[in-house]
Amino acid sequence: LRGWIRAERRNQGIEPEPNDEQKLEEIMTSRENSTESSPMHRIEGAFLEDGKGLSNWDVFSHTNGRIKNGDNGDIADDHYHRFQEDVELMHSIGLNSYRFSISWSRVLPRGGFGKVNFAGVMFYDKLIDSLLLKGITPFVTLNHHDHPQELEEKYGGWLNPIMQEEFLYFVQICFESFGDRVKYWTTINEPNMFAEMAYVRGVYPPARCTPPFGNCSAGNSDTEPLVAMHNMLLAHAKAAKLYREHFQARYGGLVGIVVHSFMYKPLMNNAYDRDAAYRAFVFTAAWVFDPLVHGDYPPEMRKYLLDTLPSFTSDERKLIKDSIDFMGINHYGTLYAKDCIYSTCVCSNSKKDGVSIGEPTGMSRFFVVPKGMEEIVDYMKKRYHNKPMFVTENGYSSLNPTTAQADELQHDIKRVEFHKSYLASLAKAIRKGADVRGYFIWSLMDNFEWTDGYELKFGLYYVDRATLDRVPKLSAKWYRDFLTNCSLNG
Ligand code: NOJ
Repeated sequence: LRGWIRAERRNQGIEPEPNDEQKLEEIMTSRENSTESSPMHRIEGAFLEDGKGLSNWDVFSHTNGRIKNGDNGDIADDHYHRFQEDVELMHSIGLNSYRFSISWSRVLPRGGFGKVNFAGVMFYDKLIDSLLLKGITPFVTLNHHDHPQELEEKYGGWLNPIMQEEFLYFVQICFESFGDRVKYWTTINEPNMFAEMAYVRGVYPPARCTPPFGNCSAGNSDTEPLVAMHNMLLAHAKAAKLYREHFQARYGGLVGIVVHSFMYKPLMNNAYDRDAAYRAFVFTAAWVFDPLVHGDYPPEMRKYLLDTLPSFTSDERKLIKDSIDFMGINHYGTLYAKDCIYSTCVCSNSKKDGVSIGEPTGMSRFFVVPKGMEEIVDYMKKRYHNKPMFVTENGYSSLNPTTAQADELQHDIKRVEFHKSYLASLAKAIRKGADVRGYFIWSLMDNFEWTDGYELKFGLYYVDRATLDRVPKLSAKWYRDFLTNCSLNG
């Protein structure tokens, strides 16, 4: 693989890189100069420690004006140094599984351009062992919106098909290093959300916009989100093939993908809006799941996008078809859909006759509509022949949280109500036969919420930004009781 990547790089005329020390110096200098460069991982922090390289988010979050309040992930929740304490927290609530992602730039600081960072591998080694010792199953995401910055700069990130091979190289290292202990792998987290945020709205790196969305000074072509997705899907399929052929038989684990899955309801009960709701689903969740289950993009996407939608070759179709063992569903809310083909409108909407579809949360597009959980799971069950599912994320972000409201944040009754009602709704779908194997709350503790920085809080634990102390909220106590008693009535 490495040889292949090198040859590709030569073909593309990309010069060899300065060594790691030079690169680091360059990074630190440009950091002091303000606008560019640096850090992050959602909770890990330690963004340049022990040989970690810069990720796309490290650089982006140090770019002026990109993140609320100028926040960044340099320190985040300092999980890198406090992971043992955090595993204790998980154990104290009674979690039997923990979902986390591996930072690509911690394991391969320069992607295929450089060496494996063994200190990075050791970190995840220790984390995985600590989890297992406490009886907590690791549920690993290989790519959660972040990759080595060098791959962005040299290749243009996910717009370049070479990222498929780069990803393959990274996942091979992870499967080899952790495959004996990790039995649940998801390749990419929310490729649909990433494509939208990075290439349509321009609010995730590399901050490209598709007019009329976003406020990038230079718009891009409207094919970019489609191309980025195409490369992510093929990267997933190659990783899944590698896992199935070389690791699954030996270790017996499973491989899947995680998709952001809103539920859409027609605004008016007429054929146009019903079609619009269907299209909204197709252009978001089915954009990912259809190829990976059925072997091609949804026909409705082809109908509207024609040749701007990339095509799979027949070999690629064989590769991607049936390339997931389970579906990871991130579900946060429901929106109305209104027809935009035969009338002029905003196509997704939160209000009908001035009445909100559900209670608002801190996140502008997330409204509390518990029934949506049952509906989306039901829908997935039908469309994908009841493939096993995990609800890989479901969570409530407090409204207008500021540090002054810390006390209120610890008495987060709304978060408790949110989870109770969504779990009850999920239980209905399971009783009707949906093969749902697990449920993960987003998230264990407050953390760096992408462009919202530390302002939006989803955690069961409040993290004091000054001391980084973890303080259990009411929801942490409630979840512990729920997991102990298996009852929603507490
Ligand atoms: C889904 C994403 O996977 C996660 O990174 C994000 O924090 C949550 N949505 C909440 O916005």
